[in-house]
Amino acid sequence: MANPEGLPSTVQPDLSSGPRLNQWWEIEVVGSLALEESLFWRLQEMGCQGMASQHIAEALSVKSYLPCYQIEEAELAPMATCLRQDAMALGEPPPQVTWRQIAEEDWAEDWKQYWHPQAVGERLLINPAWLPRPENTDRLVLQLNPGVAFGTGTHATTQLCLQALERQLQIDPSQSQIIADIGCGSGILAIAALLLGAQKAYGVDTDLLAVGAAQDSRQLNGLSTTQMIVASGSLETLAELLPGPVQGFCCKYFGPCDIGVDPAICKHHAAR
Ligand SMILES: C[S@@+](CC[C@H](N)C(=O)[O-])C[C@H]1O[C@@H](n2cnc3c(N)ncnc32)[C@H](O)[C@@H]1O
Repeated sequence: MANPEGLPSTVQPDLSSGPRLNQWWEIEVVGSLALEESLFWRLQEMGCQGMASQHIAEALSVKSYLPCYQIEEAELAPMATCLRQDAMALGEPPPQVTWRQIAEEDWAEDWKQYWHPQAVGERLLINPAWLPRPENTDRLVLQLNPGVAFGTGTHATTQLCLQALERQLQIDPSQSQIIADIGCGSGILAIAALLLGAQKAYGVDTDLLAVGAAQDSRQLNGLSTTQMIVASGSLETLAELLPGPVQGFCCKYFGPCDIGVDPAICKHHAAR
């Protein structure tokens, strides 16, 4: 059986690298607005673990973060070339790419200033955990502290998933819905499902930092470990954890996705 709160058996960072574990590359890409989706996709594929985008007049700035233990500085220039080539392939001017090394504490503080409470759909309000909890609201407040994991709710694709969840759980508001969130990141979708009335949610992610963030977010929202089960791993882990069929899957990847053909998952997908 998979251990819901356990460590993955996959390769772990080289702990002998000492302080580099707390060091990050902050990669900033400034280009045209039309590049947003392709930049997010490519940076995620390159292993970046957190992204913040800002529209400045007609330009887009995307800051993303890579742990220094994962990549040497010499490898960043080829990454920048790849980002510029992507832009040219889309008929856009090549973006400007710069990078600097920062400490984890700076990373954590720097991007927080761009993130504010955000209403999503008809019923949810995403609130950064370090801000006061909004009081005069009819919305369901989802407290979030993603740390270095993906999933602040600011990205359009996450918002679309949240709105889809809201619609789905409204159509069938019975209290017995079980939801599986594959690639849960901060746990935002699993938590939203529970706030919207699902009975139970399972979240899995291959990134250990995401697993920790999802566990923290679970606690922030006063959810129990039996309501929201978080595990490191992917489809196989989920298949081991699920006691039976689930009523819905959330899965938001930027990379190629083979979930539709995975028998381990299909056998757990309840017919609607
Ligand atoms: C784009 S983020 C989505 C996070 C969150 N669900 C959201 O909607 O904001 C994708 C997440 O999937 C995780 N991931 C990538 N490949 C995965 C895989 N094969 N199995 C499980 N998780 C995976 C990443 O670590 C990342 O946290």
